[in-house]
Amino acid sequence: MKVTVDEAVPEFPGVRAAACPFDPPPELRELRRHGPLAKVRLWDGSTPWFVTTHAEQKALLGHPQVSADVTRPGYPIHTAGTGGGSLSFILMDDPEHARLRRMVQGAFTVRRVEGMRPAVRRIVDRLIDELLAGPKPVDLVEAFALPVPSLVICELLGVPYADHGFFQDNSKTVIKRSATPEERAVAFGSLFEYLDGLVGKKIEQPADDLLSKVAARVGSGELTRQEVAQMGVLLLIAGHETTANMIALGTLALLRHPGQLAVLRESEDPKLVAGAVEELLRYLNITHSGRRRVATADIEIAGQVIRAGEGIIMPNDIGNRDPEVFPDPDELDVSRDARRHVAFGFGVHQCLGQPLARLELQVVYGTLYRRVPTLALAAPIEEIPFKHDGQVYGVYELPVTW
Ligand code: HEM
Repeated sequence: MKVTVDEAVPEFPGVRAAACPFDPPPELRELRRHGPLAKVRLWDGSTPWFVTTHAEQKALLGHPQVSADVTRPGYPIHTAGTGGGSLSFILMDDPEHARLRRMVQGAFTVRRVEGMRPAVRRIVDRLIDELLAGPKPVDLVEAFALPVPSLVICELLGVPYADHGFFQDNSKTVIKRSATPEERAVAFGSLFEYLDGLVGKKIEQPADDLLSKVAARVGSGELTRQEVAQMGVLLLIAGHETTANMIALGTLALLRHPGQLAVLRESEDPKLVAGAVEELLRYLNITHSGRRRVATADIEIAGQVIRAGEGIIMPNDIGNRDPEVFPDPDELDVSRDARRHVAFGFGVHQCLGQPLARLELQVVYGTLYRRVPTLALAAPIEEIPFKHDGQVYGVYELPVTW
């Protein structure tokens, strides 16, 4: 069925309000009735394409004539003030994207990351020890979900963990849809200045960390100091905010699905834990607001033509609930094979940190519920503050007891 831009083009919801807090908004799922592609109207009146099917999302994410450059006309920007384009290579096209990504990708290979497992285990165990020794109820986000990935990415990059309050607060503002453009610019500027200062220190006194390794390329002329600082901001934000949301929201989802939690807690099989991580990534879709792109040439797909300059939105939450790929997609089933999910994106921009995210989530999901078997929510679910206004979904707080 052809869908044309007219008065009937539905508004793209700014918030993720659904009856079940883990489900995509119903009005977005209804767009499926138009077929794989439909047009939606954004907050600024623009009408990009909205892609509802897993296969077409992957085809477009892997398409060479699809650009991630947020500064190109037609790019469907999230909200006013997010079109600046200074978040390093995540918003660039090849060959620039590939040139910068190559500088850091060696640190994120499966083999390198696997070497970090004992250190991640120590961090998780220590935080659980502290949790159990402290008062209850406690906010799991503050006490556990944020510290785990923040400690790990700080160690990897060589960022002092003592500064976590500063970088966590500013990262939150950068990705908050409800932040004003000014607030976002100030937060981004503070993070950039902070990383730039750190890069300066690493150039003078290199240490055994990723930021020092990348900063060394300034001297050899391969990178500018600004490029290194921008990459640092990207890695610091992406490295803690996403995984923290998966830990807290994943725990909430499991507490709401006690049968699935029991399967996970009682299994001795690391493969089941690894599978549960994939299923929770598929089911929760914390980067729900979608991969955003703009066509650089006319693209024919699924009976439609996306014209050069038209925006494209590919929400993972809709793609990962495609019944053609995942039977009973709205069921959380930790035993299913969910590996084809698009929670880490697809194509050249596919998540650089996915081996690290997987490792952290495997250690957390495989440890927390065993060591705290009576873990329970300490507030009614109606009182849990969800991040409806975030570009990354999750909960602001998760009061728990045991
Ligand atoms: C559960 C946690 C995570 C999720 C769900 C997630 C999700 C994603 C997604 C969907 C993308 C693709 C963006 C696009 O196509 O526009 C992405 C890219 C990226 N992620 Fe992650 N991520 C996670 C954890 C991490 C971690 C721990 C790091 C470590 C630094 C990281 C670093 C990056 C980077 C650098 C990119 C840009 C890749 C590129 O443009 O080539 N992510 N992530």
